[in-house]
Amino acid sequence: MGTSISSRAGWVTEPRKLGQWPTPDWLVEAVLDTVELPAQGTVLDPACGDGRWLEAVHRRNPALELIGWDIAPQAVAAARERLGDRAELVCRSALTGDERNVADWVVGNPPFIRPQHLDADTRAHVWECFASATDKVDLYAPFTERMLELAPSVAIVLGDTWLSLASYEAFRDLLEPRIDLVAPVPRDAFTATVGCVALVCRPDGRQRLARLDRAGLHDVRPLRRVDGVYPLVDTVDLEGDGLLGDRLQLRMGVVCGSYSEFVHDGPPAIGDVRTCRGKQVHRFRFDPSAEWLRYRPREMLDRRPYVAPKSRALFDVPEKVVLAGTSGGRLRCAVDTERRYPLDSCYVSQGAEDVWALCGLLNSSLVSSWYGPRFPAPRVKAVELHRLPWPVGDLSRVAEAARASDQDGVDAAVREAYRC
Ligand SMILES: C[S@@+](CC[C@H](N)C(=O)[O-])C[C@H]1O[C@@H](n2cnc3c(N)ncnc32)[C@H](O)[C@@H]1O
Repeated sequence: MGTSISSRAGWVTEPRKLGQWPTPDWLVEAVLDTVELPAQGTVLDPACGDGRWLEAVHRRNPALELIGWDIAPQAVAAARERLGDRAELVCRSALTGDERNVADWVVGNPPFIRPQHLDADTRAHVWECFASATDKVDLYAPFTERMLELAPSVAIVLGDTWLSLASYEAFRDLLEPRIDLVAPVPRDAFTATVGCVALVCRPDGRQRLARLDRAGLHDVRPLRRVDGVYPLVDTVDLEGDGLLGDRLQLRMGVVCGSYSEFVHDGPPAIGDVRTCRGKQVHRFRFDPSAEWLRYRPREMLDRRPYVAPKSRALFDVPEKVVLAGTSGGRLRCAVDTERRYPLDSCYVSQGAEDVWALCGLLNSSLVSSWYGPRFPAPRVKAVELHRLPWPVGDLSRVAEAARASDQDGVDAAVREAYRC
């Protein structure tokens, strides 16, 4: 017994590289409670770990045939110990091979692995073979795509970033026709605090959204795809005359590559410029800052290939909007009149006709209600904000209220400009 427990626990050898985050037993049961498994047929867990999902399936219906795959030999050994000959267990990668529909249901929890932690061969293969492998998506997306090739129905737990991040658009497109249920689970369900959802897909998916916790499913309602993303709470829809991104661009601040080399708190040398960080940006005002930037684009570029010092023309203007790049769903920006060169935790407006109107618009409660539920990730993304519908009405009252730092006035004027 002692040996059995320790070898089962020891199957997690490479959490980061292999995405080994075991699913808590209550969550396995709660997800399986949301589906009706068939009376006969095959259930596959293609990333089976120690076989806990398959064991739970077997308890529910011993007539089902079980298959478990895992790339880690220790995981397969732990699953064998748990399941004996009740399952066919194979040590292999689920991402290779061209089998289709080997089972009636896939269950489990795909590996969460950031692309930079994948070995080069796996990354090259996955990014070539899977439509959902775009930009910097986590491996859980192409792995789920593979799960959908392996069975017509799946019941799994995966990360929640796919619901809203731009890089998962191809994945959302692929899932959309098959989604039966999306249900966020408590953030502390796993040992690491991550946002996760239960996902059930079936050929005749009913497009439902709910919450899932130890007590089961709550608040079942229709799942809506709004502007390409899946908001988890109700969103505000805004009618517009084109999009914000058609009129102006939000650009990231200076990516200097090393704050310790290029940012200091004075006194300024010749050529140093004022800077600020995202945390110093509030609605309509900046915290005072004594920080300076040694703006040396050549030096920055020579030292770090990935930096983006950008052109002075973006920063060195009489007025521009500076937006904090972290939000928690609530946008905050201020008009800069001190020719600051903000750091990369900020966005800077380029091409705005009236910076005060833009500042009011982005600080308005209405725009945060449009943005926050659609894009709940803590980091604001310019590509997302560029999709904000531009108000049809006149913005002069918005600009006036923003100049006066009058939040209520801004909120009223923005509502009027959107005609709501
Ligand atoms: C999130 S864990 C899930 C384990 C188990 N199903 C559970 O829910 O507790 C992901 C599993 O995927 C396995 N894995 C990683 N890459 C894999 C691949 N290419 N093919 C199959 N399994 C893989 C890991 O070894 C790990 O056991």
